[in-house]
Amino acid sequence: MAHEKLILGIESSCDDTSIGIVDRHGRVLACETAGQEIIHNQHGGVYPEYASRAHAQSIYPAIDKALAAAGVRGQDLRAIAVTRGPGLIGSLQVGINAAASLALGWGIPVIGVNHLRGHLRSADLEEARVTYPAVVLLASGGHTILAHLPDRHDAIVLGRTRDDSVGEAYDKVARMLGLGFPGGKAIDQRAALGTANIKFPRPILQQGLDFSFSGLKSAVARHIESNPEILVEDICASFVEACLDILVTKAERAIETTHASCLVLVGGVAASAQLRAGMARMAEKNGVKLCLPPLKWSTDNGAMIALAGWEYLECGLAPELVATPRIPLSAF
Ligand code: KG4
Ligand code: ZN
Repeated sequence: MAHEKLILGIESSCDDTSIGIVDRHGRVLACETAGQEIIHNQHGGVYPEYASRAHAQSIYPAIDKALAAAGVRGQDLRAIAVTRGPGLIGSLQVGINAAASLALGWGIPVIGVNHLRGHLRSADLEEARVTYPAVVLLASGGHTILAHLPDRHDAIVLGRTRDDSVGEAYDKVARMLGLGFPGGKAIDQRAALGTANIKFPRPILQQGLDFSFSGLKSAVARHIESNPEILVEDICASFVEACLDILVTKAERAIETTHASCLVLVGGVAASAQLRAGMARMAEKNGVKLCLPPLKWSTDNGAMIALAGWEYLECGLAPELVATPRIPLSAF
């Protein structure tokens, strides 16, 4: 069948219900995303029960829209790929149930994908960009991980956060400043208008490849409390400068350690214009190629899950289709 060349990817691990339809080369025929910002904004964070309910409401309409946009029928697809974890168990379950029942009805296979592997593949959506050996920085709301990618399939974790992820720190600082949820984008935009005149701490900067952001976040909270008149833009600029310093220093150290020739930046925080610019300067200094997915593929999306699904299919990988809250990057 003509469309046996397409995989439909379902992403529902956190607060985005996203359906992507992608061919084996990463060409995106459709991607429909229903966000939940309006729901979670009221709580200043993702409220798991509300997230699952919103996924249940949005998932079938989003699948219908994606199929219509791609001009394909479900039964003609090669497979469905669905995030099996890591993430919120109820949210994952909604995606897995939809994937399993539709795959049964359409008579096609269903593949459970590690969400973190999806982020890795996001850098090759629409165009193959990544060359190996590479170092990847996955900076999202749930994770901050540095890994060595000797080839397309292996991922060796070099460092990870010991407490908050960088995206969590962005979101918590945004909450302190009343900038809404998720607040990464608002912080990034305000930072561009301010002056980095406060020297916030850079925890464990000189040590190895792990990260720590909770001390930085607390220092920002203390500073806001004792300086209520301070400009929001200057807080944002100083906070972003500290995050950038930490992320760039560790990524540079990972490149020196592995002799990688390519640096890949993925995950929601990789949508940050400030981070992209800082990493570009560092990559140029080190003579390393910088691979960035277009902004829309940095945050969670179904297209990256579909492209990861192709990798699983080609390698014959079929992990058990069970919602799994924690999965390491090294696993499939
Ligand atoms: O990858 P993602 O969509 O979801 C997870 O897998 O966690 O990342 C979401 C995170 C949030 O913390 C959000 O505030 C942050 O990415 N984010 C940004 C930007 N856009 C989203 N952080 C900085 N600058 C942005 N432009
Ligand atoms: Zn993610």
